[in-house]
Formats: sequence, C-alpha cells, structure tokens
Amino acid sequence: MDGNIVGLDLVADAVKRAWKLLATREKRVVLALPATAVITKKVIMPAGMRESDMEFQVETEANQYIPFSLDEVNLDFQELGPSGNNPEEVEVLIAASRKEKIEDRVAAAEGAGLKVLIMDVESYATEAAFALAVTELPKAGKGQTVMMVDIGAVMTHVHVFHEGQMVHSREQSFGGGHLTQEIQRRFGVTVEEAEIAKRNGGLPESYESEILQPFLQSLVQEVARSLQFFTNSTQYNKVDHILLAGGCAAIPSAAALVQEKTQVNTIVANPFTQMSVNPRLKQLQIAADAPALMIACGLALRRFD
Ligand SMILES: Nc1ncnc2c1ncn2[C@@H]1O[C@H](COP(=O)(O)OP(=O)(O)OP(=O)(O)O)[C@@H](O)[C@H]1O
Ligand SMILES: [Mg+2]
Repeated sequence: MDGNIVGLDLVADAVKRAWKLLATREKRVVLALPATAVITKKVIMPAGMRESDMEFQVETEANQYIPFSLDEVNLDFQELGPSGNNPEEVEVLIAASRKEKIEDRVAAAEGAGLKVLIMDVESYATEAAFALAVTELPKAGKGQTVMMVDIGAVMTHVHVFHEGQMVHSREQSFGGGHLTQEIQRRFGVTVEEAEIAKRNGGLPESYESEILQPFLQSLVQEVARSLQFFTNSTQYNKVDHILLAGGCAAIPSAAALVQEKTQVNTIVANPFTQMSVNPRLKQLQIAADAPALMIACGLALRRFD
C-alpha cells in the first residue's frame, strides 16, 4: 500500500506461494524499493580516493541532503565514472532509504524462506528492462523519444527515454484497482473473484459497456495527459512511441485505444522477446503477464559482484 508493506505475514505467505509455483530451488532474490522511498544525489568527488575515505566523504555529503539522521537510513554509493572531462574528479551516485522500508521488504522475503542479495530501485530496474522491450520498436528505438507508461494496481509510472536514457519521470495515482473495485461493487464479488474475472472473463454482458469501457476511457485520458505534460514541460516537443507496461497493459484493447487518442504508435511492452523461454510455460500466459514483469526482468539482469 503506497510503497509500504501492510500485513507482513500475509505478504510473506503470498511470496512463499508464488515461489512454490515456480518449482525452483533458487532462493536468492533481488528486491527493489519504489523511487519515492529512495533519496538519490549525484556528487563530484576527487578521483582515486581510498574506499574508507570515500565512505567518509559520502556520509558527509549525505548529511547535507538527507532529512533524517544517518542512523535511520541505509546508505550506499556507486562511482559512476569520470566527471565531465576533468580526470581528477569522479561522479558518485549516493542513495539512501529509511531503514524500516528496507527491513520490511527483507523480512517479507525472509519470512518466505528467501535470501535477499540486493536492494535496488524500481526506476533503475525499469531502465534496465526498457533496454529489453525497446528492441521491438522500429530501429530498436534509436534516435527516438519513447514514453513508457506503467499502469499498475494503484499507481501509474511514466518514464520518458531518449536514446535509451531516462529523461523524465512522473507518477500519479491511477491503476487497475479502480476497475477491480467497480467490478466488486457492481457484481457483488470478492477482490479475488474480481481479479480472476478481469483476466479470464465470465462477467455479465453489461461489464464491457458499463464498467470496462469507462475505465479504458480514463486510462486513455491519463496517458494523453501525461503525454501533454511531458511535451509542454520539457525541451522535447514530441514522443515517437508509447510502450504500455504494467498489469493494465494486458487489457486487450488498451494499446489500440491509446494509439487512437494520442496518434502515437503504441505497443504493449514485452521484456521477453529476446529471451529463450522455458517450453513448459504457456505462450499466451507469458504474453498476458509480460507487461507486468518489466521490473522483475530488470532486476533479474543484475549481476552479483
Ligand atoms: N490480464 C489482465 N487483464 C486486466 N487487468 C490485469 C491483467 N493482469 C493484471 N491486471 C491488473 O493489473 C494490476 C496489477 O498490475 P501490476 O502488477 O503492474 O501492479 P503493481 O506493480 O503490483 O502495482 P503498483 O505499481 O500500482 O503498486 C491489477 O489491477 C490487475 O488486476
Ligand atoms: Mg508497479
């Protein structure tokens, strides 16, 4: 809920059931925090510092930018490379998050019997997954501006990439949860039943016209507004393609309706096109789940070094 775990045992139990369904022995996992839970800052430091000196310097810098006591946060940093063209300086990315945000997530995974190796940031994982999904666009997106709209359960994250680099990010509260609630209210079903019906159908005929269509209209409006906001507030005056991601991108007519309204080529994001897929998995199921698995795929690309 809003980036926090409410009901730790329930979450741990759900993760455990999901893990069992995977039928794997792998217990190492990589997790991510939502970008809103992480404070990041790029700073310039002298090149060639010793690790311990660098840590000290990072803490000093962090003290200036982080509105909490350093005891309350987990702090990390990564040297990004030379700063501009001055060989004496390097650019360093500092990231900090409140301890409880990290501890809750680790506890949920450990409660499911898993071992957390890395805590990443969702927006970085999205950036990595973008590189997988963009291969489906003409010229693999080269020289193009691509807007990725991830419509989840409660949040919509919008990221715009130019030449593969994220140049704009924004989030708003909109998601498939609204549709689930409408189904529950209208047909008197439980959340679980509504979720299954969204995927597998079986609702009365009035669903399409009275519930789904109005929801899709708001979805299209949200995307159109994000597009307008981006072109009005940045140096870019157009977007060449829209990649629709998140669970709501799997609604069959969503991409077509977005394209019709925005007049921008729109496709459903699929991070699996360049991967070989276990033949035991059903193609249709993968296609339906693919847009919701962007962050998971981005995290899976990480190395453990
Ligand atoms: N095949 C489908 N058809 C329609 N809706 C779907 C489908 N698959 C998933 N959804 C909906 O997508 C939403 C979940 O999407 P996703 O997994 O991207 O969310 P999330 O990342 O967990 O949530 P958030 O980003 O909001 O915290 C739910 O509302 C779910 O009902
Ligand atoms: Mg999401």
